[in-house]
Amino acid sequence: MAKDPEARAAELRRAVEHYNYCYHVLDAPEIADADYDALYDELSALEAQYPHLVTPDSPTQRVGAEPLSAFDEVVHTVPMLSLDKTTEEAGISDWMTRCRKRLDEGVDLEFTCEPKIDGVAVALVYEAGRLVLASTRGDGQRGEDITANVRTIKAIPLTLQADDLPPRFEVRGEIYMSRRDFEAFNEKARATNGKPLINPRNGAAGSLRQLDPRLTAERPLTMFCYSLGWSEGGWQPQTHMEVMGRFREWRLRVNPELKLVRTVEECMDYLHDLQARRDDLGYDIDGAVLKVNNLEQQQTLGAVTRKPRWALAFKYPAEEATTVINAEEFQVGRTGAITPVARLEPVFVGGVTVSNATLHNMDEIGRLDLHIGDTVMIRRAGDVIPQVVNVVTARRPEQAAVVQLPERCPVCGSPVERPEGEAVARCSGGANICAAQRKEGLRHFASRLALDIEGLGDKLIDALVERDLVRVPADIFTLEHDTLADLPRMAAKSADNLLTAIRKSRETTLPRLIYALGIREVGEATALALAQHFGTMEALAEADAERLEKVPDVGPIVASRIREYFDRQENLDAYQALLDAGVTYEPIEVSEEDKPLEGQTWVLTGTLEAMSRNDAKARLTALGAKVAGSVSKKTAQVVAGPGAGSKLEKANELEIPVMDEAQFINFLEDHA
Ligand code: IVH
Repeated sequence: MAKDPEARAAELRRAVEHYNYCYHVLDAPEIADADYDALYDELSALEAQYPHLVTPDSPTQRVGAEPLSAFDEVVHTVPMLSLDKTTEEAGISDWMTRCRKRLDEGVDLEFTCEPKIDGVAVALVYEAGRLVLASTRGDGQRGEDITANVRTIKAIPLTLQADDLPPRFEVRGEIYMSRRDFEAFNEKARATNGKPLINPRNGAAGSLRQLDPRLTAERPLTMFCYSLGWSEGGWQPQTHMEVMGRFREWRLRVNPELKLVRTVEECMDYLHDLQARRDDLGYDIDGAVLKVNNLEQQQTLGAVTRKPRWALAFKYPAEEATTVINAEEFQVGRTGAITPVARLEPVFVGGVTVSNATLHNMDEIGRLDLHIGDTVMIRRAGDVIPQVVNVVTARRPEQAAVVQLPERCPVCGSPVERPEGEAVARCSGGANICAAQRKEGLRHFASRLALDIEGLGDKLIDALVERDLVRVPADIFTLEHDTLADLPRMAAKSADNLLTAIRKSRETTLPRLIYALGIREVGEATALALAQHFGTMEALAEADAERLEKVPDVGPIVASRIREYFDRQENLDAYQALLDAGVTYEPIEVSEEDKPLEGQTWVLTGTLEAMSRNDAKARLTALGAKVAGSVSKKTAQVVAGPGAGSKLEKANELEIPVMDEAQFINFLEDHA
């Protein structure tokens, strides 16, 4: 019998919110996007059929409101303060000493450290577990009511469910855009002639300022909660850590980098470690925030001129700076793509001196209206190449020259082509004619994830191509000792080492070899998927588009790039030459029936000692399993190494079978 619609709607609401939470708060998706969409669509359809079943906190109501004509003003019950800051280590020990002196507490004061997120400060009011108000910081006293926009952010729960919720309370935190989402947004904007965002912070601020919440909903925003504004109903937490722990239990998103420290040394270690990992965090930070952990002590310390005495910001070097463009050059990539590169007046940014910045393509230059001699803002964040984000037109010198796309390749002189509707201009010469494309192709072939030829670096490749000693990858394997020893910066010993490395690289794997070919759009992950699906290069080379598209993550564009590659005789010849030069790989066994784990979801937790997590994942995927980040009822098997924590507990709770690494290895051997 079909379930009654009301019960089904409630069940679907819970399920959708749960998967939202896994994906957006825990960063550990539990189901595939398509399955999530199916649940969401079922809920939407049910609500359309029975409008009385729509609740204000239904996940379908995140984007409900009509555009506003203006934002209402919100007066903050407790002002939103700003932070005192220091850029020096001495500033930290001075601050800690000041706190101790004022509190008369002797030595055992506790402090917390957490990243200072470069986003937009907001305050969220929850009433009876429902999100009822979201506001910006504004001037600290008054902000703007951005509730409709904030409701569209999936990391922010519309309702909280817990027995110990205060009847009314305010959560404060920072809304931001992750670097990955920022890059993806800009890539799409560039491809569709839209306007890219300057940086993630502007992206977040601009998104929250949209009067139409539907526009905000299209921007990938998220949030870290970092303090309690106020609460009613008698909850009196003792420490910042306790508040954050409670927030986490209530499913609010709290930064995992939050840590308790007791001494200046511990604090410094934290700051150095965080700074070292700054590029890998996935979001922009401009420093760290240190807080006195005990909330009563915070009260006693109080604030001066809108800055609390109990907190301090430690600022890292800025990731944006202004400088001048001295010249514009064009680089030619492996596939002939011509990328404009700005030569800059050297400037210190994000902790390093930068003298080049990329401009992506000609459209970007047009959009920025970039001239040589312009003063520009550049941004160096994460491990991406520094980028020009903005031009200060007011400071443009007279007679500054416009940047123009060259008609001919700066390296080989072949005509530059730019197909209608494409943003990228390319050298039409191909690797046969264009030395730049040959060099880049060889760099790719020898790179770490491809054949990994140790010692075959950039300078050496330049020298080999310039002397015409190597034209195609197979030529690498015919190089002789004396030829190599004669090259600049080389000697007998280094030539020996290189020859050994070259010889060693001939025995490779199919995923590496596919990746090494340098087929457009085929990165490391796609190469692995193709290898596992086809098992040999011959099978891959013969597959038609339809078969190619059966491989996970291969769509029509990637399929057509693969076909184009293998349809060209010169590519087939170059591959044959590799085989003739002794390049070999172990074919991967594939047979349709050989997927014993088809339909199962496995979870890996703790540390694996005998194999990397990636290898374990690849083996499981090859056997047909899906590998998920968290345990649920649907998990078929958990593999738990030493140090496994909450996932193992959850598995035991749900009575899901668990094996240790030794059992896992036996299992793999049985299924090899
Ligand atoms: S605590 C009383 N913690 O920094 C100060 N602020 O300059 C309360 N910020 O506008 C702020 N990350 O939006 C705190 N982990 C963090 C933060 C953080 C970023 C922002 C905050 C505020 C600004 C203060």
